[in-house]
Amino acid sequence: MRIITSIAEMQTTARELRRCSTLALAPTMGALHAGHLSLIAAAKRDCTHVAASIFVNPLQFGPNEDFSRYPRTFEADCAALTAAGVDILFAPSAETLIPAGATTFVEVAGISDRLDGAHRPGHFRGVATIVAKLFNIVAPDRAYFGQKDAAQLAVLRAMVRDLNFSVEIVACPIVREADGLALSSRNSYLTAEQRARATILHCSLTAAADLHARGERNAQALIATMQQMLASEPTAVVEYAAVVDPDTLLPLSDTTRGALIAVAARLGETRLIDNYLLGADHA
Ligand code: PAJ
Repeated sequence: MRIITSIAEMQTTARELRRCSTLALAPTMGALHAGHLSLIAAAKRDCTHVAASIFVNPLQFGPNEDFSRYPRTFEADCAALTAAGVDILFAPSAETLIPAGATTFVEVAGISDRLDGAHRPGHFRGVATIVAKLFNIVAPDRAYFGQKDAAQLAVLRAMVRDLNFSVEIVACPIVREADGLALSSRNSYLTAEQRARATILHCSLTAAADLHARGERNAQALIATMQQMLASEPTAVVEYAAVVDPDTLLPLSDTTRGALIAVAARLGETRLIDNYLLGADHA
């Protein structure tokens, strides 16, 4: 695997690779786990060449968030990406990717203020700005993102549509631990006790999905089920339990046309999110 830290070198290399083959990009912030590696596996299946990026993006962390203590495991990440068959790792420094004096940002208005955006002001502006830059530098044919961050996917799909990026966004299913907890780099913050309790997010979603499977289509009923389940774990401080349109992230009153059910909660200092896509009824 070739590691590239310079923007110019990444641009030239990507241009050469795209000439007679397809190029995939899987953007990450490192601290890689099987969820990230599932994006690489999907990219390998679809494209001739696969690039990954590692950049802990300061623009997407709020002032009181975990930027400085975010796990950084570069050596292990390189080994995992090499084993997964990644061709190129783009790993620029913060000074390279966000030079002093940069004042241009990408703002996906509306969607960026919903779900996680409502609780993390400026977060999606930071995500959209950095992903737009990565798209400009790598210009991949396809870019791979996890369904785990469903609101991020909605923001990035809107950005690609509105700004006419020539890239296909591919969403990959959530990879989970055996007990249902969605893999996340932030799970490493959890104490053993919090880790055991963290399954409550997944349990609340499966309870709502079961209710939906039994015929309930009323969004308020599904939300009440999620809230009840989450309340059974008093150490989990709930941020949201929502039933929304997966593209606009606006609340839905019923789920007949399908829906994204999503939860966010804090266990101690650690913020966890999870979601589940409900399918539409057949006509
Ligand atoms: P990061 O949290 O490192 O995640 C990188 C990618 O891995 C995202 O697309 C995320 O949705 C996906 N991912 C994380 N956990 C997953 C899981 N359990 N199953 C499937 N996919 C999973 O998301 C970011 O970084 C950043 O916001 C980024 C897009 C890199 C921009 O800075």
